[in-house]
Amino acid sequence: MGALSTSEIDALGARAEAMVNALGAISAEPDRLVRLFLTPEHRRAADRVAEWMRKAGLEVAEDALGTLRGRLEGQGGKRLLIGSHIDTVIDAGKYDGPFGVIAGILAIEHFARAGKRLPFGIDVLAFGDEEGSRFPVTLTSSSACAGIFTPEMLALADRNGVTLADAIKAYGKSPAEIPGAAHSPDETAAYVEVHIEQGPVLEARNQPLGVVTAIIGQTYLNVEFSGQAGHAGTVPMLLRRDALAGAAEAILVGETLARETKGEVVATVGRMSVSPGASNVIPGNVAVVFDIRSGSEAARAKLVEALTWGIREIADRRHLGLTIASTREVATTPCHPYIQDQFAEAIRALGADPLRLGSGAGHDGQAMARLCPIGMLFLRCRGGISHNPMEYASPRDLGLAVAALIGFIERFDPGKL
Ligand code: GLV
Ligand code: MN
Ligand code: MN
Repeated sequence: MGALSTSEIDALGARAEAMVNALGAISAEPDRLVRLFLTPEHRRAADRVAEWMRKAGLEVAEDALGTLRGRLEGQGGKRLLIGSHIDTVIDAGKYDGPFGVIAGILAIEHFARAGKRLPFGIDVLAFGDEEGSRFPVTLTSSSACAGIFTPEMLALADRNGVTLADAIKAYGKSPAEIPGAAHSPDETAAYVEVHIEQGPVLEARNQPLGVVTAIIGQTYLNVEFSGQAGHAGTVPMLLRRDALAGAAEAILVGETLARETKGEVVATVGRMSVSPGASNVIPGNVAVVFDIRSGSEAARAKLVEALTWGIREIADRRHLGLTIASTREVATTPCHPYIQDQFAEAIRALGADPLRLGSGAGHDGQAMARLCPIGMLFLRCRGGISHNPMEYASPRDLGLAVAALIGFIERFDPGKL
């Protein structure tokens, strides 16, 4: 098939933008985008995506965790998987996740319409749990597809006490069928994902597209301090066991340790629950989650160890009860050199410079890498802003990203991996 013309690329971009906007309108809240795993909004978004998949000529199936699979048969051999996620963070942007699914659908439609059988089959996957915004665990849907879902995850509960197992049942699925979601390594060639960069590098270099070299590793440390709730007016300062003051000190220890690595490790606390949560009550219980990331496994492990020591010291000194548990441990995941090179060639063929860059954000590829080689294509987003309603990518760049994915599929040879 010949190269796409500028007007064809722009038409793909316009369609992609309309589809991004359609999913962006499916939210649990009227004034901000919130679409969590296994909720009625997840259902509505998945129904919309399934409709697009069918129109694109794909055969649609849905697994026990609600992951949609749109399948295009090829001449045989191992399959190429293309995916991303349709869940969101709280108060999200519209592009993070959905665009990767939409890019896969539009790229496959290009081949399905041409009526030519590719040498390999393709599955487009729409995962529902990349962000980990509902349960204290993430990548459960891609883990099931990769065959690494662990049953302990089923007992984890959301903020309302609903366990993952119960949420699966409420979605009309059965936890017993999760093993059936696993793709066979013998039938899978690779997993690729198209995603907005979520950072400022491509924009700063004035390039629309980039090739991901690796996805950085991540640790989630759930820390709970317990002290003594009491009257804010009557208990003298020196007699208090204030769980929030201890947590605040711990957060600053995390920030200091990460700053000392001079950019090698980043540490964030973006979620805290304070109990009982009244302004005239000394906090008796506080739970925080530290999100710690680095491209270096050693640097991340060193920071986690130092932070753990620091937190223990704070709890001892302040006479606070303490529990520390790691609920997420994801290794740095390299992208396969052959896949990187094919994305680079596809970008070059569009007249752009294929910049190579790491991903500081987490992605389903980290789970899928346990099944098969993975790769990612990034596209520029305005100001590098993501996990924010201001997230934006231009229709021109959306079209270029779909065109690069089409170019990748044309170049891809499972035998060369
Ligand atoms: C998910 O997008 C993450 O990187 O936290
Ligand atoms: Mn994402
Ligand atoms: Mn995200």
